[in-house]
Amino acid sequence: MCALPGDTRASEMLELACMHTLFMREHNRLAGKLRSLNPHWNDERLYQEARKILGAMIQIITYRDYLPLLLGCKFHRLIPRYRGYNESVDPRISNVFTLAFRFAHASIPPTVGRLDEYYRPITPEIQLRTSFFAVWRIIQEGGIDPYLRSLMANQAKLMTQQQMVVGELRDRLFEQVERIGFDLAALNMQRSRDHGLPVLYQVKPAFRFFCKMTFYKLWLFTISIGVAILSIPRGRNVENMMFLRTLTMPLKYIFGIQIVVKGKENLRTKKPFVLVLNHQTSLDILVMMEILPRRCVPIAKKEILYMGTFGLACWLSGVIFIDRKRREESIGTLTEVAHSLHKDNLRVLIFPEGTRNHGGSMLPFKRGAFQLAVKAQVPIIPVVLSSYKNFYNQKEKKFTPGKMIIQILPEVETLGLGPDDVPKLTEQLQLCVPQWRGGHDNHRKVWQQRQLWIATLTNQRKVKKSLLHQEDKLPTGMFLVPPREHHSRCHPARQTHNGQLDISV
Ligand code: HEM
Repeated sequence: MCALPGDTRASEMLELACMHTLFMREHNRLAGKLRSLNPHWNDERLYQEARKILGAMIQIITYRDYLPLLLGCKFHRLIPRYRGYNESVDPRISNVFTLAFRFAHASIPPTVGRLDEYYRPITPEIQLRTSFFAVWRIIQEGGIDPYLRSLMANQAKLMTQQQMVVGELRDRLFEQVERIGFDLAALNMQRSRDHGLPVLYQVKPAFRFFCKMTFYKLWLFTISIGVAILSIPRGRNVENMMFLRTLTMPLKYIFGIQIVVKGKENLRTKKPFVLVLNHQTSLDILVMMEILPRRCVPIAKKEILYMGTFGLACWLSGVIFIDRKRREESIGTLTEVAHSLHKDNLRVLIFPEGTRNHGGSMLPFKRGAFQLAVKAQVPIIPVVLSSYKNFYNQKEKKFTPGKMIIQILPEVETLGLGPDDVPKLTEQLQLCVPQWRGGHDNHRKVWQQRQLWIATLTNQRKVKKSLLHQEDKLPTGMFLVPPREHHSRCHPARQTHNGQLDISV
């Protein structure tokens, strides 16, 4: 029986004492066998050789049997195959592991099980609180076998969010040997402070992502209360958008996102226009506020209206909501918007992909934005948001400080275009911005070519003339000819057209 080892913790609870006894006996069995095979070995040699074999057995149990069950399919990624001794690897137990491996405290059941030689439970079950250091039970109540049978045949306690560390460990730890029962969960937390362990926020990117996104949403919902209060005197009015914009801006400093805006001069127009942006994630709200011009209202899906205080703030700021499931109603809304653009000197912002797109390439554009611009005869200003990939990735739960570029492109005139030109216009706009996701400005040439092509399409002499004037500034080798029809990485735009406003914004 291994009741008096060098470390008193060896018999801290009954099953642990049994395991130590089992391995000590195995060690002695190996040493006995080795002595009969090698009678010339002295005690020290026998001890060391038996210890090596036992160490190997424990490694096999740990790496072949235990850890794959514990870590599941992540095992091979987290612990790659052994490839020989590597002296550059630090073999010390890491500070954080001494806390992390205490996870198993939540897998301890409140009773100590024992099974007889027929694997029937031995009653009464021993309460955990009476089992700490109680090695006398092993000696006087049938040895280690009943405990080992139970360890083999019974399951560990399931760890769930509702049922973590049992009361026997949380309130009654070492109750028999100390003056009061200790709390193991509290000890664990206190020890982590002693060790100066980093909080979960620092070590787990996924947790950081979760915290930042929760903060982002809380921020939006909280400032929305302020926006709603400030908007009361005016009621629903596009001018209220400035409150939402100003209160959203600090977020970029909090998250450390550097936003570089290129082509600001293209927004310096007093006329109405339709702004089209590529849509990536919910972070677009923060990014779009960076460039949102005065008297510009986004067109959003109706679901946003029901998002509590944020929905209310959007409504008060004049956001136009569209129910994508109700086609007729949406056509009506967009037609009204088209009429009010000039009347109320409004600008609208639309995500022509219609939905969030986490992928690398663009989704086919819906025609709503372009129909609206043609109907109102207002220019389209395409805006390209560079990919957030270097600082934000929902799939990989990544959200770090980073940099992004907003490229505002020159306006595309729609004066003189009719409903029949909309499919071609949509297609050309989708194809003409190969850098939709790149955010680089090295495609200016291609952009000018395409724009000229659109101008040629509609015989707009005025636009064509101004572009021809720009030819002087084009780099050598650039010609004002229609560009190639397809960009292989772009999706083709939808071809069908019924002459009506397309609601699919
Ligand atoms: C009834 C069962 C158990 C009891 C009563 C128990 C109790 C304790 C206690 C009192 C400590 C020291 C707390 C302190 O910091 O002051 C401790 C530490 C620890 N326990 Fe447990 N434990 C049990 C089971 C387990 C299991 C099953 C595992 C892992 C599979 C485990 C892993 C650890 C680890 C890694 C430490 C930290 C050791 C160190 O840093 O020195 N414990 N445990």
